[in-house]
Amino acid sequence: MTERLEIKNLFKVFSSTPGPALAMLAKGRGKSEIFEKLGVVVGLNNVSLSVPQGAVYMIMGLSGSGKSTFARCINRLNEPSAGQVLLDGRDIVPLGEAELREVRRTRISMVFQHFALLPNKRVIENVEFGLKLRGVAAAERRRRAEEVLSVVGLARWGYHYPHELSGGMRQRVGLARALATDADILIMDEAFSALDPLIRTEMQDELLRLQRTLNKTILFITHDFQEALKLGTRIAIMSEGEVVRDGTPQSIVLEPGSDYVAAFTREIDRSRLFDARLAMRPAEPVLQSEQGTLVSEAGGFGFMLDGNGKVLGVLDAIELGRARASGEVGTLSTDYVSVPPGAKLIEVARSYRDGRPIAVVDDEGRFIGSLGADDILARIASTAPQTVTGERHVQS
Ligand SMILES: Nc1ncnc2c1ncn2[C@@H]1O[C@H](COP(=O)(O)OP(=O)(O)OP(=O)(O)O)[C@@H](O)[C@H]1O
Ligand SMILES: [Mg+2]
Repeated sequence: MTERLEIKNLFKVFSSTPGPALAMLAKGRGKSEIFEKLGVVVGLNNVSLSVPQGAVYMIMGLSGSGKSTFARCINRLNEPSAGQVLLDGRDIVPLGEAELREVRRTRISMVFQHFALLPNKRVIENVEFGLKLRGVAAAERRRRAEEVLSVVGLARWGYHYPHELSGGMRQRVGLARALATDADILIMDEAFSALDPLIRTEMQDELLRLQRTLNKTILFITHDFQEALKLGTRIAIMSEGEVVRDGTPQSIVLEPGSDYVAAFTREIDRSRLFDARLAMRPAEPVLQSEQGTLVSEAGGFGFMLDGNGKVLGVLDAIELGRARASGEVGTLSTDYVSVPPGAKLIEVARSYRDGRPIAVVDDEGRFIGSLGADDILARIASTAPQTVTGERHVQS
């Protein structure tokens, strides 16, 4: 399957003669060395990224790492110095002015941090702006603008001026303007960063709600890992013009791979990110009886499973010891908690009852692992998960 948007080996050197800098990059020289030797700034250094249809791809990185340059190279507000930007497999880098204009109007639209609304035009005229440029007839563009204004919850505000709106409402106008063009790819460059926290949360929720019906392909730039977790299905982290880490939020937090990436994840609430599957341990079979299989879990309890792997009941540590010794399974209790593998650790922690074992159970009710309070705590507190795995070996 071709990806909706695929970036291949993209370079940006801010110079009218990028050749020498590109040659140095090819030899593995870095951004700062090139600046010292040639006095030119490297914006992007060999960036490749695949964005599937419908994805919300988050781009993160410190200030100056190249996020905006990346966004601007995709719709060629900045001209790439080398590389490809493939839209459904077609490279848009070689396109001429007219074709490029068409791409910007129909395929890719951009939402900026400061929406740059035209202050002396009414809200609805601001929303129509792109359509007007595109030559859409007046009645049709008015209809379309009214439609998208109601989509972003501003149906009644079309005939007001931008200064009569709050910051959050202006953000919505910017979003409406991007949506009005019907472009299927949205690039949002720190679109919510200037908003105060409550409005920001509201806009994030709004975007998630819209995305469920619009199903756009979104590249969203942010400084904020919490925002990246909330909105994104994948995160790419940039440094010095390069993508230094790329993956699912959970995998990035688990294995940052460098201090630079780890610094972004440090404040993350792991209890809301990690799920039961990640923290659980497999159980060890202890004995087989005609009832089924008795397995021991990390907390010292035993779970009795039927032939299909479903939990029949639980034995406490003493009874488990007895069963081990005698080969006879005593009376099973139902005093355990079960959670699905996708349950976030915060939910697991809430269902935890003092001393009771926790079984991780799939959709069909089959036992797949167990969790103790220490597993939950270790994952929530972890900054270096490899160590946690190591400790686990020592304990068991
Ligand atoms: N027009 C330009 N001319 C020269 N250098 C530029 C230009 N635009 C950006 N740069 C440089 O490119 C690098 C990346 O800048 P960019 O704006 O992409 O960073 P960013 O990650 O978006 O930062 P921020 O988080 O502050 O928005 C920086 O070193 C910057 O100085
Ligand atoms: Mg920027």
